[in-house]
Amino acid sequence: MTAFWVDDNTDPYPGYARLRAEGGLIPHEMDDVPVTIATRYDECSAVLTGSEWGHGYSAGISPFRDTVAAIPGSFVRMDPPEHGRLRGLVNKAFTPRTVADMVPLAQNVVSSLMDEALSAGEIDVLNGLAVPLAVAMIPGRLLGAPVSDGHLFRRWQLAIARGSDPDHLLNADAIEARGVAAQECLTYFHALIQEKKARPTDDLLSELIAVEQAGDQLSEREVLGLCLLLLVAGMETSINLIGNGMLALLRNPDQLDLLRARPDLMASAIDEMLRYDAPTQFTIRVALSDTTVGTHEFKRGDGVVVLTASASRDELVYENADSLDITRYEGNRPARRHMGFSLGLHYCVGAPLARLEAETAFRALLDRAPSLSLATPEVEYQPSLIHRGILALPVKLG
Ligand code: HEM
Repeated sequence: MTAFWVDDNTDPYPGYARLRAEGGLIPHEMDDVPVTIATRYDECSAVLTGSEWGHGYSAGISPFRDTVAAIPGSFVRMDPPEHGRLRGLVNKAFTPRTVADMVPLAQNVVSSLMDEALSAGEIDVLNGLAVPLAVAMIPGRLLGAPVSDGHLFRRWQLAIARGSDPDHLLNADAIEARGVAAQECLTYFHALIQEKKARPTDDLLSELIAVEQAGDQLSEREVLGLCLLLLVAGMETSINLIGNGMLALLRNPDQLDLLRARPDLMASAIDEMLRYDAPTQFTIRVALSDTTVGTHEFKRGDGVVVLTASASRDELVYENADSLDITRYEGNRPARRHMGFSLGLHYCVGAPLARLEAETAFRALLDRAPSLSLATPEVEYQPSLIHRGILALPVKLG
């Protein structure tokens, strides 16, 4: 598994810096398809926010073979108007009010995990905190699935997320594991949907089923696809924000101490973590009509790999771009928006829930453990390009 821009998946950032030095838009061939890699902030931002850009699957012009796009209901790869119809239905679950209602659940889950961890003197921040929290919030709360099936959700989500890299960068085992996981997951949620049809509960899945049953706004296959999308898009990323963010704090003890001393910096710190080491490293877009970015001309159907994690480290936009500075997004003159949640029409719909999960986990760790230190200096990364996340994060609690 390699792409030309990453020579070491423990640290892709020097590779991104070399690309930015070469230019903001770099021609490349991906899976035999000529594409352009957008590396710098301005070019990435122009593509993500420009109305001439989208995915082009419904128009049949995308040069990318993308497995996510093949899932019915997977609006992350759709263009208007289908995109707006599905996003609007899911968006209801992420209003400030609905997310505020989820706070007590997140706090209870984290609090009991911390009770256990403090008596053991150690916690795996990833598997012992971030994973069970994400299971409780996403399949548990949003989809109304039993949290006792957490091991299944984590296994499926990892295999599907791993398989969301371009196919030519995956080995046969990863492709097979992705197919098996997707099938098992669809079978599971198909059964859950039948159960909720008979006995609706208070969750987003039951609401989506009600919309499906009320008329022609949503098909059952789309409801199923939405379950898969929320499971993978939500779990993988929110787990990795907690893992990558905590690792960044532990490797920058001055910033960890500062956050302890100034809890009011939490929101700014989370934005900085998303800028500094984002769970999602890149996305793709297609020119929906002939257009230009700067002086570069694109034809309808041209594909761009938008290296958002590189844009978020662009030294032309951020001072000391390679340093973690939790005050960067503080106050009324914050730094330019990072691309951790993307920009434009596809800006992460689950961002408020991701922030809630991260804030609850970091607050509990900082408030309840008198000291935090890495149990082992080295960490192992998932073998993935699009998702950046570690496999375990054992931490000693003082
Ligand atoms: C730290 C955690 C998260 C990160 C870093 C993240 C990142 C992203 C990014 C980068 C995109 C846009 C992709 C693009 O522009 O092509 C996106 C979209 C999306 N995210 Fe998240 N996400 C996170 C958490 C969540 C959560 C918790 C959920 C739901 C439970 C969620 C659901 C979605 C969905 C449904 C979309 C598609 C939005 C659209 O296309 O309109 N995400 N996310």
